[in-house]
Amino acid sequence: MKQKLQSLLETTLKSISVAKNEKVLSDLETTILGRKGELTKILRSLSALSVEEKKEVGKFANEIKVELKNKFELQRQVFEAEKFSNIAEEEWLDITFPGIKPEEGSRHPISRFIDEVEDVFGKMGFTFADGPEIEDDWHNFTALNIPPDHPARDMQDTFWVKDMEKIVLRTQTSDVQIRYMENSKPPIRIIAPGKTYRKDSDATHSPMFHQYEGLMIDRDTSLANLKAVLLEALRQLIAPDLNLRFRLSYFPFTEPSIEVDCSCVNCGGSGEMPDGKNCRVCKRTGWLEIGGAGMVHPNVLKNVGIDPEEYNGFAFGFGLERQIMIKYKIDDLRLFFENDLRFLRQFA
Ligand code: PHE
Repeated sequence: MKQKLQSLLETTLKSISVAKNEKVLSDLETTILGRKGELTKILRSLSALSVEEKKEVGKFANEIKVELKNKFELQRQVFEAEKFSNIAEEEWLDITFPGIKPEEGSRHPISRFIDEVEDVFGKMGFTFADGPEIEDDWHNFTALNIPPDHPARDMQDTFWVKDMEKIVLRTQTSDVQIRYMENSKPPIRIIAPGKTYRKDSDATHSPMFHQYEGLMIDRDTSLANLKAVLLEALRQLIAPDLNLRFRLSYFPFTEPSIEVDCSCVNCGGSGEMPDGKNCRVCKRTGWLEIGGAGMVHPNVLKNVGIDPEEYNGFAFGFGLERQIMIKYKIDDLRLFFENDLRFLRQFA
C-alpha cells in the first residue's frame, strides 16, 4: 500500500511539472485529489486495513495529499504569473507613440480655385453670379449676338438636348452675362464661375470643363480698365510677377474682341530655359493663351435693355482648369476628373 502511494506521488509530481497550462493542471488535480480521484480511492480503501497499518499508511497518505495540494497550488501560481507577464507583453501602451491619424478629405483643386477667384475678384467689387448648365438658345447664343445661322456656333461644338428644340448644355459661362443684365441695372460687376460643355476630349480638352466669366458695366469703361483688373487678379491667382498681353480677336458679343495671354510661368516669359533650350510649355513664344475678352457689343446691351449710348463695359471668359494647370505646371487636364488620390492629395 505504501509503495502504491509512493509511486502515485512520484508520477503525479512528474505530471505536474510537465503540465502545459492551467486546464491540464486542474484536470490532473481532479483525477488525483477529486472525489473520485485516485488518492481519494486509496484513502477510502484504508478501512480494510488493521488499526496499526491504518495509522501508519493513513499518516503517509495524508502527508502525500498535503504535499500534492501544495504542488498544485504552486504550479497554479506559476501559470497565473505567466498570464500577467503575457498581458504586459501583448497589451502594452506607449503613450508617447504617435497616434493613428484619421484620413481627412480635402477640397478638390477646382473647388479651391473657384473660391480663390471669388475671393480675389470679390475684393475688387465683383459679386458672385451663376446660371443654369442646361441653357436655352437665347441665353447661350442669340442674346450674345450669335444668330442661328452664325458660323460662331460651329466654334463651340454643342451638346443639344434631344427632342428639345433650342436647349443646350451651355457652351460658355457668357450666358450668365445675359441672365444677370436682364435682371439688374448698371453699374454691374459680376464674377461667374461654373461648368461648361463642349464636344471635344483629349489631354487638354474635356467634354465638361469650367470657365469663369467676368462682366463690368458702367459709364466710360475701357480696355485699360479691363487690363488693370485682370493684371491685378491674375497676379494674385497665378503668379505675382505675371504679365499680360492682349491680342486682337473675334467674338460676336464683344467689340473690339481680344485674346488674353499671360507670360509663361515656366520660362518667365523669355521663351528660353536657363540652359538655352526652348521652353516646352510656351514653345518659345513666352506667352500662354488663357481666354477671351473684350468690350461688350452694343447689340448685347440692347438685347437686355441697357442703353449702349449711356453705358458700356467689358467682359472676359477664362478656362478655369487651364489656369490651375498653368499655376501648378500640370500637363494633363484629365487628372482633374480621374480622382486619383495621389494627385488630389497634393492640394490638401
Ligand atoms: N465665352 C467666350 C468663350 O468661351 C470667352 C469670352 C467671354 C469672350 C467674354 C469675350 C467675352 O470662348
